[in-house]
Amino acid sequence: MADTKRVARLELDGKTYELPVISPSVGPDVLDIRKLYGEAGVFTYDPGFTSTAACESTITYIDGDQGELLYRGYPIEQLAEKSHYLEVCYLLLNGELPDREQMETFERTVTRHTMVHEQMHNFFRGFRRDAHPMATMVGVVGAMSAFYHDSTDVTDPRQREVASFRLVAKLPTIAAMAYKYSIGQPFVYPRNDLGYAANFLHMCFAVPAEPYHVPPELATAMDRIMMLHADHEQNASTSTVRLAGSSGANPFACIAAGIACLWGPAHGGANQACLEMLRQIGSVERIPEFIARAKDKNDPFRLMGFGHRVYKNFDPRAKVMKQSADEVLDLLGIHNNPTLQVAKELERIALEDDYFVSKKLYPNVDFYSGIILEAMGFPTSMFTPIFALSRTVGWISQWKEMISDPSGRIGRPRQLYTGAPARDYVEVDNR
Ligand code: CMC
Repeated sequence: MADTKRVARLELDGKTYELPVISPSVGPDVLDIRKLYGEAGVFTYDPGFTSTAACESTITYIDGDQGELLYRGYPIEQLAEKSHYLEVCYLLLNGELPDREQMETFERTVTRHTMVHEQMHNFFRGFRRDAHPMATMVGVVGAMSAFYHDSTDVTDPRQREVASFRLVAKLPTIAAMAYKYSIGQPFVYPRNDLGYAANFLHMCFAVPAEPYHVPPELATAMDRIMMLHADHEQNASTSTVRLAGSSGANPFACIAAGIACLWGPAHGGANQACLEMLRQIGSVERIPEFIARAKDKNDPFRLMGFGHRVYKNFDPRAKVMKQSADEVLDLLGIHNNPTLQVAKELERIALEDDYFVSKKLYPNVDFYSGIILEAMGFPTSMFTPIFALSRTVGWISQWKEMISDPSGRIGRPRQLYTGAPARDYVEVDNR
């Protein structure tokens, strides 16, 4: 942590308290309030953590005003164009881009972990067929700690590493199995001669009855979607993983907690909600009606895929995703796709509308991803599982960073209590 001699001064009840100012490598300065309660007897109040840094991290940086996203310093646009998902995984987990040999070893290791314990197949069969694949994933990933005991000791760096490999390698298998189970098709085993994204498409779309060829362009598009979702610093699900992990919980339990948090429509669930919204709008003529609803304070409707806590400018991932959507639809010969037309027109109108302009609401990563995934043949229920499997490497990188941080303590926020003060119990007959 970069220390400086600058301090901020807080005056309270005639006393002055000094709060050290810490300068990060990039981004706004941070006031260190760790000793505030001990010295001044007050807490800070920040629901939603809009002004609170809960940890120090070297993994991902976002400049919300500039619309900039860096993984370990590398701009997302460059990675999306020049890198590939497993290289990004290596980068996030290890801090630096791999040389050829490191890449080969990493790829080989991840690839050799793609199968799940055979008994897990039985575990899947306990779920109802019509379960949402996210519901199945929360359960199955949590259950990994029951199948892989030899990588649950968080104090052992080697076990932490093995757990990381297992999670990165097995999440696509688990997501694909959740999908196959939901449509009543047999599970498809991973094929280790395929790349990471191609293997995932194979496990989702192949059937034992006939050969399946993964179109390489679709594998590339899927790989790019995975890269764009790989990490996003301290968002709700990542903070959930860190908080769960701060108690010493095992990595599989922590990632299951992250998946549960991601599922919400304000977070990763927005990709499914966005495509359903675009379908509901249906035609360009109906856009004004939905824009009016989004602006109406008395209507809970929000434009899904719009707005972000940190980005007050274009989400750089949305830009890449929009371009990818055009490319994929073109490749598949899908012209005049009505959902894409509605999306583009909705974006155009919203970006000219005072309400959205003044609140700095721009399309986010979830706005265009669903269009690509739908064109590839995925049902909307698979959109968030794909987000989850792609984000797993970010969650693990953040979890590993937290575990090895010597200043790490159990996460324990305080509260502004506004409930009843102490009072005596009243017997039921006297209430
Ligand atoms: N449509 C209409 N109005 C909106 C929207 C929207 N999508 N997003 C924010 N607003 C308004 C909101 O009503 C509020 O207005 P006012 O100040 O008058 O009360 C103002 O903008 C600020 O919104 P907020 O809810 O206080 O902002 P937040 O930072 O707490 O929430 C958000 C961020 C992403 C949850 C929110 O923008 C949202 O619900 N968007 C739709 C869901 C979505 O697309 N989520 C995906 C986020 S990116 C990927 C991910 O994280 O997984």
